Amino acid sequence: MEFSLSEEQLMIQQAAKDFAQNELLPGVIERDDAQKFPWDLVEKMGELGFMGMMVDEKYGGSGLDTLSYVLAMEELSKIDASASVMVSVNNSLVCWGLETYGTEEQKQKYLTRLSTGEIIGAFCLSEPEAGSDATSQKTTALDKGDHYIINGTKNWITNGSKAEVYLVIAQTDIEKGHRGINALIVEKGMEGFEIGPKENKLGIRGSDTHSLIFNDVKVPKENRIGENGFGFKFAMKTLAGGRIGIAAQALGIAAGAYELSKKYAKERKAFGTEIANHQAIAFKLADMHTKIQAARHLVYQAACDKDSGNDYTLSGAMAKLYASEVAMETAVEAVQIHGGNGFVKDYHVERFMRDAKITQIYEGTSEIQKIVISRSILKD
Ligand code: CAA
Repeated sequence: MEFSLSEEQLMIQQAAKDFAQNELLPGVIERDDAQKFPWDLVEKMGELGFMGMMVDEKYGGSGLDTLSYVLAMEELSKIDASASVMVSVNNSLVCWGLETYGTEEQKQKYLTRLSTGEIIGAFCLSEPEAGSDATSQKTTALDKGDHYIINGTKNWITNGSKAEVYLVIAQTDIEKGHRGINALIVEKGMEGFEIGPKENKLGIRGSDTHSLIFNDVKVPKENRIGENGFGFKFAMKTLAGGRIGIAAQALGIAAGAYELSKKYAKERKAFGTEIANHQAIAFKLADMHTKIQAARHLVYQAACDKDSGNDYTLSGAMAKLYASEVAMETAVEAVQIHGGNGFVKDYHVERFMRDAKITQIYEGTSEIQKIVISRSILKD
């Protein structure tokens, strides 16, 4: 299948590429080293419309399609996956969830500021004992009439300390299992809501990852997203789209590592010639290119499915599974092609290798994607 991009899509792709080269690249190694969250860059991404790409213009968004969003995600991730995960979470999990299932009041109150990047959001599903097994929520949101009282802990939350708006998934009625789970909007500063310790991570070190602690946090009923008991489905439906964003991130990491490797192989000499002339290296590049193209087709297909109103749970899971495996494999080979230089920070590929790993874990591990895929293909 041929994906012909419109002029507008090509423009978005170019804008993201320019931004990544001019703004993300300088300082990317330092931000990774120091685990520094780039607020100034988030503001600039907001100004360029990257923080609410698919949100309707009436709520401050860019009103673009999912394919434009994945093109931007790919370009940003070729340079800095820490920056692109903030974009992904804000766009796919927070803005999309609110725009699709929120009330008009919730959209007016939160979405406009989130989609312009004035503030950022976080999606809070994972817990110390509920990662892949997401229905086993231990965080509770007890129904107290006109409000809920939340207690519990959330783990590994992207944008954890920097967000202003948190979409929190919690159990209201244990008897009802996953049908007793709710999704609630929690604001930073609500009494009893504390930001826990920052995680010291292997990769995407420039992104902000924290645990969150809820001690009798009182949340008004109007902050519930959807009907009573819709919280688990909300999380699943939102994650189905989120996985397309992470697939695009993985694709970008793979493509970034490949592009650096190709350039290096054409410059670096060994045994009297550029290493690209050695079949051992040329074949690695051939494998990388082929797998990246295959991943790109899956990612674009999933985006097109979403844009055309088709079910994208299966195509999104396949895209995430494959693109993240390709990202990891490509980044490891990129380090190998760079040899000793690949092992030091200045050449960027060791960072790609560390960053690639998380794409096989967050928003559903590769094993979870296989559950989603196999259930989908076997259900008929
Ligand atoms: N859309 C709508 N509904 C869905 C759905 C989907 N895509 N997937 C499942 N559901 C519904 C099911 O229909 C079922 O509802 P009914 O019983 O009413 O029919 C309900 O949800 C429960 O589904 P299952 O019985 O399939 O549940 P399960 O316990 O077998 O688990 C799972 C399913 C797919 C494994 C799920 O638990 C899962 O996705 N786990 C991974 C969680 C995850 O991705 N976490 C990532 C954290 S977020 C993150 O990483 C963000 C970040 O900061 C970067």
